[in-house]
Amino acid sequence: MKRRIKILCVVGARPNFIKIAPLFEEFKKRKTIKPVLVHTGQHYDFEMSKVFFQELKIPKPNYNLEVGSGTHAWQTAKIMEKLEPVILKEKPDLVIVVGDVNSTLAGALTAAKLNIPVAHIEAGLRSFDMSMPEEINRLLTDHISDYLFVTESSGVRNLLNENISKKKIYFVGNIMIDTLVKLKTQIQKSKILEKLNLKKKAYAVLTLHRPENVDKKERFLEILAALKEIQKIIKIVWPIHLRTKKQIKEFKFDKFIKGLKNLILIKPLGYIEMINLMENSKFMITDSGGIQEETTFLKVPCLTFRKNTERPVTVEIGTNTLCTTGKMLVREANNILKEKSKKGCIPKYWDGKSATRIVNILVREIKLYD
Ligand code: UD1
Repeated sequence: MKRRIKILCVVGARPNFIKIAPLFEEFKKRKTIKPVLVHTGQHYDFEMSKVFFQELKIPKPNYNLEVGSGTHAWQTAKIMEKLEPVILKEKPDLVIVVGDVNSTLAGALTAAKLNIPVAHIEAGLRSFDMSMPEEINRLLTDHISDYLFVTESSGVRNLLNENISKKKIYFVGNIMIDTLVKLKTQIQKSKILEKLNLKKKAYAVLTLHRPENVDKKERFLEILAALKEIQKIIKIVWPIHLRTKKQIKEFKFDKFIKGLKNLILIKPLGYIEMINLMENSKFMITDSGGIQEETTFLKVPCLTFRKNTERPVTVEIGTNTLCTTGKMLVREANNILKEKSKKGCIPKYWDGKSATRIVNILVREIKLYD
């Protein structure tokens, strides 16, 4: 009898959890797969990690490397050091990594160095901006992976342009949307609007955490100046990322922010509350990658405060608009309030079936050697 395929999945940060959940759902349906889950511990606070495991019903990790925060080199190296003995012990047939965080690159590199095949989910995205830590992670991970699962057609083009063999590339759609589709009913039942005393479409939501926006005082100030204007015309709810909270303290922006009466700071939300808040908002302001995609799927206008995006489909056919300056942010927010926003379409294969496509391919392609 053929033995089961052992697949070791590495996750570490908030967006990873949303991408791995549908895969574990799919594994449950297949008797031929034995999954092993490793949490690197890159994110460790309840609201950045555990709440996602609970809500998305992700099984308890078989291993938690408890790495925690640190510099990029330290964090990446620490994950590799702690992951290597786990991979050596488990001897998986495949290692799966998702997204573009430090845990993604560390997982892929550790496996590749041990000659274990690697699958990268959300491959091929490129911002062409090497000052972003995520771009380095994406590029390197893709070049040492054996199975490249792509969310949008630009990803296929990018990989081919980098001379990656066509045989390794699979356009399977967006696995994050699988989670959204699956939890739709629960999302609709969320009471977050009542909790925050908000009315549908009468508020905007803000998220901000990228180093290029919150680690540089000037840039952060530019955003705050824009927010000062926007909150005069619409209430803004801001679930605040822990690194951003730290930066506000560091730059002594607390007092200025407190002065903005229509800007409401709240703790980071779990998945279900966050998507409900997003879906019922007039628009989003963000620098997150995932939110650009979720708003496109939900057809909510999204203003992305960045110079570029590795997810061009959200701008080309979705509801996303890149805002490079504070002035542009204010102008676009005004346009949305005048109902001048784009309507948007849902990209190909963002249909809730990506995990099934991925697992079908893996079961077909993985050869077992004993
Ligand atoms: C990471 C990812 C980013 C992703 C984001 C989602 C990298 C390079 N970046 O950024 O791509 O969009 O996660 O959230 O991997 N912190 C806590 N508690 C936690 C986690 C973080 O307090 O549970 C604070 C710490 O001060 C830490 C800082 O946030 O130093 C940054 O955390 P880190 O994991 O390095 O990167 P993120 O900014 O969260």
